[in-house]
Amino acid sequence: MPMFVRKILHKFFILLAKVMVTFAPGARHVVFAGSGSARQLCEHVLRSGATRVLVVTDKPLRELGIVDQATAALREADIDLAIYDGVLPDPTFEIVAEGVAVGKQQGSDAVFAIGGGSAIDAAKIISAGLTSDESPKNWVGFGKLKHEVMPIYAIPTTSGTGSEATMGAVIKDAATSEKHVLSGATLLPRAAALDADLLTGLPPHITAATGMDALTHGIEAYIGIWERGSRKDDSRVAVKLIFEHLGNAYHDGADRNARDGMAMGAYYAGLAINQVNVGNVHAIAHQLGGKYGIPHGLANSLVLPHILEFCRDEAKTQLAELAVLVGAGAESEGESALADKFIQAVRDLRTEVGIPDQSDLIKHEDFEDIATLAIKEGGAYPVPRLLDRDSVMVILNKISG
Ligand SMILES: [Fe+2]
Repeated sequence: MPMFVRKILHKFFILLAKVMVTFAPGARHVVFAGSGSARQLCEHVLRSGATRVLVVTDKPLRELGIVDQATAALREADIDLAIYDGVLPDPTFEIVAEGVAVGKQQGSDAVFAIGGGSAIDAAKIISAGLTSDESPKNWVGFGKLKHEVMPIYAIPTTSGTGSEATMGAVIKDAATSEKHVLSGATLLPRAAALDADLLTGLPPHITAATGMDALTHGIEAYIGIWERGSRKDDSRVAVKLIFEHLGNAYHDGADRNARDGMAMGAYYAGLAINQVNVGNVHAIAHQLGGKYGIPHGLANSLVLPHILEFCRDEAKTQLAELAVLVGAGAESEGESALADKFIQAVRDLRTEVGIPDQSDLIKHEDFEDIATLAIKEGGAYPVPRLLDRDSVMVILNKISG
């Protein structure tokens, strides 16, 4: 399809999305933050009247004692707790079905997610499966999930995904290796806790990759063409916090101030993408995650500087503003120089936290497939510049080892 037709369709699609969200129901959301906030969240769940809570998490977190720590106030209250700890990275429809089965057996009346994006996303879809017998495959797409779900509460144990602040969830189809996005207003967690006490044990390489995911959210929400709500303010807070704290959280995991800053940065980035969605970095990274199992944050980190260069002219003003925001330059330097400085600052931060700029998992023979899927996905986001095949090929060549 010629680019000018794609541009017209893209503008129409974004306009349609704007109209649709105008009539979408608002959702209430509470957040507890700081040391001890996991306990506050548990008390909030108890006040809601829940009596049979399904905890959705993964085995490593359970073995590390994080699940016990996070749910201490629920266990002290002597309510019925069931634990599904089978979540794996990039959860599949099969994992969701297992979690739903555990919840149905318990008769759960609330879902309590503890973990990174995989656990929280799985918990969201499990909560939707607890109130409907439909196949979750029917809910794939933006805004397609419309029914009431079991109340969801979330405690993120990474500072990256921002899933605790969004109405979206990513799920992988094991048969095709494709990642799909589900979304709907009812998937927004009723409440979340950003508790640094649960984050200090996060290993440096995961701190780095998940933090770069959060940074990608903040940047993509800021450079997107959809003007909506507080997305600009939220993404500015996110980008500033992440530039201030990611390096420290990476070098010293026990630095509570850095962990607090990163938890808040990832949360604000989540608020931003919840309003206007992500962009071309994710459009490519989702394919790398689905095809090769490259962790999401790492995949975003590989792609991020290249996409910023790709849309540098279209997003020059926003990139320049971000450069001033993070102290990479002064306003007097002019937009072009500042945009370049911001892209370089992103590269420098990536290097500081030990993330490579290439992956030898990415294979040349898959480039066409990846490009086709990425162009399709990117066309559904409010991106400043639409992807084209040749540009994706250039990027894939640069990031493959
Ligand atoms: Fe992401």
